[in-house]
Amino acid sequence: MALKIRQKMRLDAAETATEETPEVDSTAMIKAENLVKIYKTSDIEVMALAGLDLTVERGELMAVIGNSGSGKSTLLNMIGGLDRPTMGRLWVDGKDLFRLNEKELVSYKQDTVGFVWQNNARNLLPYLTATQNIELPMVFEGAPDRHERALELLDLVGMTKYKDRTLKELSGGEQQRIAIAIALANRPKLLLADEPTGSVDVATGSFILQVFRKLNQEQDLTIVIVTHDRLLAKKVNRVVSIRDGKTSSERIMKQSYRERLENLGNLAAEDIIGKDDETQEEFSVLDRAGRIQIPREILEDMGINGNKVRIEYKDGQLIVTNPEKN
Ligand SMILES: Nc1ncnc2c1ncn2[C@@H]1O[C@H](COP(=O)(O)OP(=O)(O)OP(=O)(O)O)[C@@H](O)[C@H]1O
Ligand SMILES: [Mg+2]
Repeated sequence: MALKIRQKMRLDAAETATEETPEVDSTAMIKAENLVKIYKTSDIEVMALAGLDLTVERGELMAVIGNSGSGKSTLLNMIGGLDRPTMGRLWVDGKDLFRLNEKELVSYKQDTVGFVWQNNARNLLPYLTATQNIELPMVFEGAPDRHERALELLDLVGMTKYKDRTLKELSGGEQQRIAIAIALANRPKLLLADEPTGSVDVATGSFILQVFRKLNQEQDLTIVIVTHDRLLAKKVNRVVSIRDGKTSSERIMKQSYRERLENLGNLAAEDIIGKDDETQEEFSVLDRAGRIQIPREILEDMGINGNKVRIEYKDGQLIVTNPEKN
């Protein structure tokens, strides 16, 4: 649920107004700092992002999870250069995204980033064939080898046999694979995928993840996947959770699983990770002001109803207790 609070925005703005403007971080692929997005409709304001911080290193294959309405697509749209924030800063591939002019933004969208949409009908043309659909973004670039490249991509997503079918003659899962090929056509450095496995069966979902892994390892493509798919999320090295428009926790793959995957060749993830495996460890995320968010389930379990907890630092440990119970 997004926060629908005008006042909170003012408080956050006041808090951050005194913070120094940081240096450009050119080493990470994505660096988002204090991103705020407020959608204004006729009667209410919805705070879709509430001061979100996120860093994604070059060459990462990571996932973003969160409940419906937590701000995942809003974040991805900003990283993809499709929307601007109400406040905050965002660097992608060393570029300060919100300071690009229109022309620079067009070239950013064409060259740096590839996008697989939550609703893939957005970048598919139903009456063109699979091959023509993939060639289309390369027509704008004037790429002379676009036909060969399209065939190469069809092979990568396992769709060679359907290359001459029109999109409307393909199933949803097959269309999704074409959408991935289109996103890769211009050889982006960063692939953003919003629910790429949301409406496909388990086998197609596994196949899509294998394609992503291959691209990540062989071509060093940085990939951010927004997903509800817990099984997919278990199979990536890092999963960031978004709650109420902020990053709240991170799950990092345990060393033992990383080693097994490396030894077996990473593509074996599908074979060794089952739905009950605890592949990752969870960490709470500290924001730049040193705040952490305590998950609602834990607060409920501790019986905390108000807005206060007791914090004690003892023997190198931070202990949070319910003041009404002590
Ligand atoms: N164009 C818009 N105008 C007004 N409110 C919007 C707009 N786009 C998104 N929102 C609101 O912002 C919040 C975050 O939306 P967002 O689409 O980022 O969520 P999400 O995490 O991607 O959810 P889902 O998992 O359902 O796709 C929601 O409360 C949504 O209603
Ligand atoms: Mg969404």
